[in-house]
Amino acid sequence: MKTVKALTETDTQKIAAALAPLLQPGDIVALWGTLGVGKTAFSRYLIQHMTQTAQDVPSPTFTLLQVYDTDAFPIYHFDLYRLDKPTDVYELGIEDAFIDAVSLIEWPDKMGRLLPKANRLDIRINVDGTTRLFTFDSADASWQKRLNTWQVTI
Ligand SMILES: Nc1ncnc2c1ncn2[C@@H]1O[C@H](COP(=O)(O)OP(=O)(O)OP(=O)(O)O)[C@@H](O)[C@H]1O
Ligand SMILES: [Mg+2]
Repeated sequence: MKTVKALTETDTQKIAAALAPLLQPGDIVALWGTLGVGKTAFSRYLIQHMTQTAQDVPSPTFTLLQVYDTDAFPIYHFDLYRLDKPTDVYELGIEDAFIDAVSLIEWPDKMGRLLPKANRLDIRINVDGTTRLFTFDSADASWQKRLNTWQVTI
């Protein structure tokens, strides 16, 4: 487990950029945290870093899914807040994403038990005053290994 403090949004941007080289196709990044804590902001910086553009990365609040191409793999950015029932994720093509894309999932609890354990990194964002605390944790052996050697400098 790793905890990193972000005092500003630029720190959040640096944390997202630091995570980018760790990502592999098939990874699932579950973003946990309350409304407005910064799940989309973190995803936006990660996507902009991976696509090497300052492109618009809208919140998938209403579309539930936005897909981005990078040189390495597609990124599927989900916001499941408005998902009616867990099985509705199949209609979003989530199984394809799990095979060869990287999935960023906001409100992953909406998938219930359909949220896989394998290849999953859990990022929890907490607010403490104006500070955001990012906690990176995983039950997946490959991710534990990656996190153990990960150095984040902000
Ligand atoms: N250090 C920080 N990291 C991330 N966001 C920050 C930070 N400081 C301030 N913010 C602001 O906090 C807000 C985070 O909103 P964002 O939409 O990313 O939250 P969210 O967790 O995705 O919310 P939702 O649950 O509605 O999807 C943005 O307005 C952002 O500018
Ligand atoms: Mg969001």
